[in-house]
Amino acid sequence: MKITVVGTGYVGLVTGTCLAETGNDVLCVDIDKRKVERMQNKEVPIYEPHLDILFERNINAGRLKFTTSLEEGLAHGKIIFLALPTPEDEDGSADLSYVLGVAENIGKLMTEYRVIVDKSTVPVGTAEKVTSVIAENATVDFDVVSNPEFLREGFAVDDFMKPERIVIGSSSERATELMQRLYKPFVRSGNPILIMDEKSAELTKYASNSFLAAKITFMNEIANFCEKVGADVDKVRIGMGTDSRIGKRFLFPGIGYGGSCFPKDVKALYKSGKDNNYNFQILDAVINVNDKQKTALIPKVVNHLGEDLTGKTIAIWGLSFKPETDDIREAPSLYIIDALLAKGAKLKVFDPEAMDNVKAKLGDKVEYADSMYEAISNTDALIICTEWSIFRTPNFKKLREHLNQPIIFDGRNLYDVADMEKEGFTYFSIGRKE
Ligand code: UGA
Repeated sequence: MKITVVGTGYVGLVTGTCLAETGNDVLCVDIDKRKVERMQNKEVPIYEPHLDILFERNINAGRLKFTTSLEEGLAHGKIIFLALPTPEDEDGSADLSYVLGVAENIGKLMTEYRVIVDKSTVPVGTAEKVTSVIAENATVDFDVVSNPEFLREGFAVDDFMKPERIVIGSSSERATELMQRLYKPFVRSGNPILIMDEKSAELTKYASNSFLAAKITFMNEIANFCEKVGADVDKVRIGMGTDSRIGKRFLFPGIGYGGSCFPKDVKALYKSGKDNNYNFQILDAVINVNDKQKTALIPKVVNHLGEDLTGKTIAIWGLSFKPETDDIREAPSLYIIDALLAKGAKLKVFDPEAMDNVKAKLGDKVEYADSMYEAISNTDALIICTEWSIFRTPNFKKLREHLNQPIIFDGRNLYDVADMEKEGFTYFSIGRKE
């Protein structure tokens, strides 16, 4: 099939590449001329495991192309995916200006039947809005479909190629049939393609992300309570997770959820509730608890090293909001860095992939180390913010030698508490014995 993807951010790029991988002829449109040139030169603009291989393979095969021209895009694909940003507005709602702006141009430029697919995370009612904006200018038939994306950064290719479910919100048989044909190769395993109305599809995405954010947040509160009563959250987590109604996944406590999705989507659903006269109390709590959780390690640092950290140097391992990505949007590490700088500490930071992004954001406010061990040399403590695999089994002897004092504040519960005691560390984590 001929497919056009408008917007080559995270979701657009993965969607375009993976659709090309199953044999479709994909044209990606982006207004950023430099980015389009880079992609034409086979340069992947983001870090995402396995994407580079598929990207190059499909460009070489002539199935994946790039342009800055929306007109060309509309002439190309029968299905037009909109994978545009929906950033957080000042009031927490999702800013639809990119989506609606492109919709307006689509109406003007469309010369034959097209299926316009909302792939971006958009509030309930957006398909309706997109339809009316296109209809104002259109002279030909079209359908608008909601097809939310559930991929995770770091596992994006795998999630796209083997989805647990595909959600399609559509009220047109013609569009539904085309979408089913497009996605059939992705659900050979028997996983379902769920067809529903547009509004339910739009809400499915927000409800899923908000539920997962609430699940993590619930566990973070249990972890905080474990510290008060002397219980071990790891034991509680496993005890709970073995109940199949609860499930083992997304129960890992830590220093809060971050990234480009959960924080924005939980706030947008909350705001959407307000706009529709509904007060999502549970989401309000999730937002507030998560905000606090991001700096849950700070009181532990202060208790141990003092309120005034002037003269102290602290190392930070892990800056991205989670492993296997260079994304630092809403990363807890940034909140921790701010809080420590405000208390006068000097910081030496290291991340396997996110260093450039942090340099662009923080400049010379912190010192950047070339390796995890360089980061800890001559520092007074180590803080772990992201659970990258290379931090899981460090050389503890080296750690003891490099650190001025063997103190670790672990925001991701990477190590066994008893092992750390044996290794001679003063070890603080989340929801476990200190
Ligand atoms: C999330 C969803 O998992 C995807 O299904 C969704 O498609 C995506 O948002 C999106 O809307 O685009 P992502 O933001 O890539 O994906 O990351 P996750 O792996 O879900 O992690 C989100 C945050 O939760 C991270 O900060 C992570 O550290 C935290 N987390 C996750 C925990 O603190 N504990 C857990 O047990 C799991």
